[in-house]
Amino acid sequence: MLLKEIKNIFHKELDHQFGKSEVAHFFYYFVEHYLGLPRFHLAIHPQWIITKEEESHFFKGLAELKNGVPVQYILGSTTFMDLRFMVNEHVLIPRPETEELVQWVIEDHKSSKKMLNVLDIGTGSGCIAIALAKYLPSVHVTALDVSKEALAVARYNAKVNKVNMECLEADVRTLEIGEDAYDIIISNPPYVLEKEKPKMQDHVKNAEPALALFVPDLQPLMYYEYIAKVAKKGLRKGGGLYLEINEQFGKEVSKLLRSHNLMNIEVRQDLHGKDRFIKSEVYQKSDLQGNL
Ligand SMILES: C[S@@+](CC[C@H](N)C(=O)[O-])C[C@H]1O[C@@H](n2cnc3c(N)ncnc32)[C@H](O)[C@@H]1O
Repeated sequence: MLLKEIKNIFHKELDHQFGKSEVAHFFYYFVEHYLGLPRFHLAIHPQWIITKEEESHFFKGLAELKNGVPVQYILGSTTFMDLRFMVNEHVLIPRPETEELVQWVIEDHKSSKKMLNVLDIGTGSGCIAIALAKYLPSVHVTALDVSKEALAVARYNAKVNKVNMECLEADVRTLEIGEDAYDIIISNPPYVLEKEKPKMQDHVKNAEPALALFVPDLQPLMYYEYIAKVAKKGLRKGGGLYLEINEQFGKEVSKLLRSHNLMNIEVRQDLHGKDRFIKSEVYQKSDLQGNL
């Protein structure tokens, strides 16, 4: 079959569901992944023929896309900070916004000469932890998640990306953290409200793990509350807490952090101009002991 015929079938079958440009992206991801060819290949070789076996990958993928499976799960991987990560239904697909949070940490610590102890809470695929281990000069990274299945993916990704990382299966709500154990604590916790579900894309709300996405409508900040407690005790004096947040709650999370005596709070917007990240720091630890 001609490759361009497959492309036409993709558009005929999927454009109404995803839009023309998204479908073109899907098709080219498949070309790269299953044929090992660059995305412009078809433009140079319009009469390119593929084998029956190659065809079968495209048709299987097409059926999965129709059923709302995200393309990253179909291909089994995605990229984050120019690194490749295995993903499956147990982990959130790493998002481009989260790269901005990681960039912030790197920017703040790239010239650090000392060994930095880093804790990533809710590591999922391990994307944040592994990117920091890869790009910061001297770090010891601990990746924590309550999901055993997610940690298996994170472990695999650490190995493939050749970084050393400690994996910790734990629930942040009951975490016993050592005092002053970390220089950096980072987290992209679940922060989507249950009531936001109706406006979410089907392939996100139906395919990605609910454990990674949702918080109860009445407790939108529950993870930030637990993380703030962990940070207050676990961060060294001068240590930084970096968080991704729901765009609606920049002010509320700032207030919550302040109430835990975290200082120097800075809210940053993502590339779409939405409040998405917060950094805060721990100072004067000795003055805080009474509040632990
Ligand atoms: C939004 S995902 C973030 C995944 C990854 N860090 C990223 O940025 O792509 C949140 C993660 O928190 C984990 N999680 C949910 N509840 C948790 C809990 N109580 N304790 C620890 N981790 C939890 C989920 O399993 C999920 O991997």
